[in-house]
Amino acid sequence: MSENRPAAIIILAAGEGTRMKSKTPKVLHPIGGRTLLGHAMYAARGTRPGHLAVVVRHERERVAAHVAELDVEAIVADQDEVKGTGRACECGLDVLPADLTGTVLVTMGDVPLLTQQTLADLTARHESSGAAVTVITAELPDAKAYGRVVRDEAGDVVEIMEFKDALAHREAGDEFAHVVDIREINSGIYAFDAEVLRSALAEVGTDNAQGEKYLTDVIGIARRDGRRVTAHLIEDLWQTEGVNDRVQLADLGRELNRRTVEHWMREGVTVVDPATTWIDADTTIGQDTVIRPNTQLLGATTIGAGAVVGPDTTLTGVEVGDGASVVRTQGELAIIGPEATVGPFSYLRPGTELGARGKIGGFVETKNAVIGEGAKVPHLTYAGDATIGEGANIGAGTIFANYDGVDKHHTTIGAHSFVGSDTVLIAPVTVADGAYVGAGSALTSDVEAGQIAVSRARQRNIDGWVARKRAGTKTAAAAEAAAASATGDQTATTGDQTTATGTTEPDARHTHSQSEGDPA
Ligand code: UD1
Ligand code: CA
Repeated sequence: MSENRPAAIIILAAGEGTRMKSKTPKVLHPIGGRTLLGHAMYAARGTRPGHLAVVVRHERERVAAHVAELDVEAIVADQDEVKGTGRACECGLDVLPADLTGTVLVTMGDVPLLTQQTLADLTARHESSGAAVTVITAELPDAKAYGRVVRDEAGDVVEIMEFKDALAHREAGDEFAHVVDIREINSGIYAFDAEVLRSALAEVGTDNAQGEKYLTDVIGIARRDGRRVTAHLIEDLWQTEGVNDRVQLADLGRELNRRTVEHWMREGVTVVDPATTWIDADTTIGQDTVIRPNTQLLGATTIGAGAVVGPDTTLTGVEVGDGASVVRTQGELAIIGPEATVGPFSYLRPGTELGARGKIGGFVETKNAVIGEGAKVPHLTYAGDATIGEGANIGAGTIFANYDGVDKHHTTIGAHSFVGSDTVLIAPVTVADGAYVGAGSALTSDVEAGQIAVSRARQRNIDGWVARKRAGTKTAAAAEAAAASATGDQTATTGDQTTATGTTEPDARHTHSQSEGDPA
């Protein structure tokens, strides 16, 4: 279909959308991670039109800024105080070349499920039929307030009558009284011959029930001039459905999501529970990845192949590598390397980069933290403004104290270094490659390669304290009983006691996870 490129597309987005009851203009409300207008512009741009114009008026600055952000080549057209879709379209034409010929598509900023394929089909159909106007129509069980499509015996379109005008004819009981019962409706999406559209709009007036300049009046004028108007009836009713209020916003949002989830399942992604899985339009997922229930993949998130994501995970703009596992996690603007593991209960804030096979474990928060290949931050840690070298291990409860109340500072942990549990790394501080930090340290100065740093008060044991200060308590009784049984067992345990007291290195009992040391 791509040979049928429209000369221009005009998107009407000047209306107020009062039924949204919102400070935000209707077309800027999002579903599936894009605004309603964003969906319309994305579908339009996909047909590679010669020009793309968006007509704005209500909240002009906000809508125009959004248009510019999405598509620098799109032209913003301002509608004046004359109301109606016809006037909006005329204002759109005004920003296009005056000698424009060929097919002009007109669509709307609040019809988010309309696809690029449907616009391409409309263009092809219009250009092959030789009609001056082709309108996308749909047959609804209840035609509601849509414009009614009136056809002749040949099946061509004679006119589109607005609901309010059709109602007036019903009340008058005239020859058009039956029109209100027609179930074929005008979607408001059309292909026009550019010259017919331009000259007909110049003739359209405002003599109707709403006192507006109706785009639909172009049809009657084209017919009067002996031109053909055809209908392109589509089966997929969701594609013509507009958003007027927040109930429709949710309905269309759910349907869009259903379509997106189905798309990824057909691409080879396992979605355990489609009903509780939300995938934005700009997210991509690799083959054989499993998405578990209650997972939201938002924005420009990219998930690799063979990964597992969820349950209960929300990722926004996160890159997940092949074979990674991300469980019960909240992440934003982060990168998770291939075969890395994250979660449960992890919070990855912007600037987190976890290397291949690295680990961010339970109750860990990271921000602006680059964590090397195979490095582990397994338990109960805050790592902010950090560089952690490959293969390093950060003990449970470590805090990267990055903020002095005024400025943020950086902490660097070298490759294969080992930070003991419950350490506070008071930034700025650097631990070189291959160094240790004893558990419970509060580190304020750098540690060189091969060193162990210990920074905490030496332990002091005071004999008989419980008997003196807590006499009569269960604790005192337990101490007394323990002392009595130790005396009684003395013969049997002498050998062990000798070994323990004979040891001069206080850290002999610590061999792995609770690293610490006493340089004395
Ligand atoms: C219009 C059609 C109707 C069709 C319906 C489909 C006309 C006269 N009627 O109805 O046959 O069934 O769409 O939804 O065209 N807009 C502007 N400027 C305006 C008025 C509207 O830009 O002055 C934009 C709106 O932002 C919206 C679109 O045009 O995106 C449709 O406007 P809306 O008022 O919802 O359509 P109707 O006039 O009710
Ligand atoms: Ca209207």
